[in-house]
Amino acid sequence: MVALKATDLAHAYGKGAMRQKVLENFNLTVESGSFEALMGPSGSGKSTFLHLAAGLAVPSSGRIEIGGHVVTDMSDAAAAKFRRRHVGVVFQDFNLVDSLTVAENVMLPVRLDHGRPDRNRLRELLSRLGLEGKDTRRPAELSGGERQRVAVARALFAGPDVILADEPTGNLDVAASRDLCSLLKSLNGVEKTAVLLVTHDPVVAASASKVHFLKDGHIVAACETEGDAGKVSRTYLDVVR
Ligand SMILES: Nc1ncnc2c1ncn2[C@@H]1O[C@H](COP(=O)(O)OP(=O)(O)O)[C@@H](O)[C@H]1O
Ligand SMILES: [Mg+2]
Repeated sequence: MVALKATDLAHAYGKGAMRQKVLENFNLTVESGSFEALMGPSGSGKSTFLHLAAGLAVPSSGRIEIGGHVVTDMSDAAAAKFRRRHVGVVFQDFNLVDSLTVAENVMLPVRLDHGRPDRNRLRELLSRLGLEGKDTRRPAELSGGERQRVAVARALFAGPDVILADEPTGNLDVAASRDLCSLLKSLNGVEKTAVLLVTHDPVVAASASKVHFLKDGHIVAACETEGDAGKVSRTYLDVVR
């Protein structure tokens, strides 16, 4: 089983003379339950790919499959509904709703889906993420690391096939970044949710078991990290530079 599979994906921005191809012949598979990372230079299209996979944009061509379902064949409405349940997204700048509490933020996607949020699931996730007792706080009353953990709880709440995380440690200090990586790793083990982590930091990428390298619009190589940031960094310099 695969959690996420992109086949012959292409994406361009703009029209006519302004047209800029960002992804071309892009092929990537993330296995079910695995923890994988995506690295590439700034502007190489990492965020573009996550947006396409999360359904926030429609690819110029190609196919995206999530948990065995081809989302690029679904209508916009069906794809949006499917993704609310099957894909969790975490952004660099947290994207929490400031006026809502921690608990309300975590349950928001399920509420938007007209579902009845499972309170036991909420308690379980807040405790796994070290957020117990913080459920009535608002984002402004939390540290950066805590805010990002709320975003992770929100992404995990519906039990998705895959979590897409776009530089989730980009706004965190070194300690909070390390904590978030070990949490993602342990949650990946406990929840069996696949994680695709976009980062330019070899230390962060080394928390994944495999890293894919993006260059010139497509994946040019992949390596097993063996938890070794030095190996990730050397491979990156070999294949991307
Ligand atoms: N909404 C957009 N409109 C036009 N160009 C865009 C848009 N988003 C990204 N780009 C361009 O596409 C390229 C890839 O961007 P992005 O996916 O954000 O790269 P990365 O996340 O790897 O840094 C860049 O050249 C960027 O300027
Ligand atoms: Mg980006």
